[in-house]
Amino acid sequence: MPLRGRCNLPWRLVPSCFFSGCLLLVAGCNLHKTSVHPYPAQTPSTVIYPHRWVAPLFDPEMAASTLDTHERDRWQQPGRIVASLHLKPGNVVADVGAGSGYLMPYLSHAVGPHGIVYAEEIQKGFLPMLHRRARALGNVRIVEGTASDPHLPAHMVDCFVLLTVYHEVQQPIGFLKTLRALTKPGTQLAIIDFDKQRKGYPPAPYGHEVATDAVIAEARAAGWTLSTRYEFIPSQFFLVFRPS
Ligand SMILES: C[S@@+](CC[C@H](N)C(=O)[O-])C[C@H]1O[C@@H](n2cnc3c(N)ncnc32)[C@H](O)[C@@H]1O
Repeated sequence: MPLRGRCNLPWRLVPSCFFSGCLLLVAGCNLHKTSVHPYPAQTPSTVIYPHRWVAPLFDPEMAASTLDTHERDRWQQPGRIVASLHLKPGNVVADVGAGSGYLMPYLSHAVGPHGIVYAEEIQKGFLPMLHRRARALGNVRIVEGTASDPHLPAHMVDCFVLLTVYHEVQQPIGFLKTLRALTKPGTQLAIIDFDKQRKGYPPAPYGHEVATDAVIAEARAAGWTLSTRYEFIPSQFFLVFRPS
């Protein structure tokens, strides 16, 4: 019996079935990505790395179990991060995307009673946590910003810190340009986040890692030049920029 006669599927339909199968597979993959990464990522004018994803905003309800843990202290080394910034008493530092205020006590101590820590956040759910932490410190001001504008004062800030925030910033170049416009001579910008190239502990949550090259290129496009990089956080890059 000819091969064709034994198959219930008419052969002429096989190519179109195969094609439809591929389409369903691709659609399935994209649906999965869309549910994890609901943002449209960068607009075409800002795309340097077209496959760079933007993660959803961190859920404030998860702060106690994820952001503020002793386990995190061990690998994150917040004291060492702040020491690496060489802040001086009286400096003004902005914790951009401060979350629950994990870095706040370290920054507050580094700039002292004559310095200021701006703890900036765009999600209202974090504000009570920030206020609670700030109360005991005395040199912290809480600022509610937006995804494109941190509402920070111009020409006052010595150091902007983005700790595990950059992977959520929807328009990174535009956002870094906004920070650049707020600088004064000597202002530094520290960006710390999960590194796509490094596989240390803890592994980046799915889709939360960023390529260091992408960050450096986006910062350059926004008017920042890399000045220092630290490698002591096993799975995160730590890049320090100065205005170009
Ligand atoms: C993973 S949490 C990290 C919070 C804190 N920096 C820490 O390390 O514990 C990321 C934070 O970035 C904030 N965020 C995301 N996009 C932002 C933006 N464009 N401006 C300011 N904050 C932003 C989120 O609301 C969230 O609180």
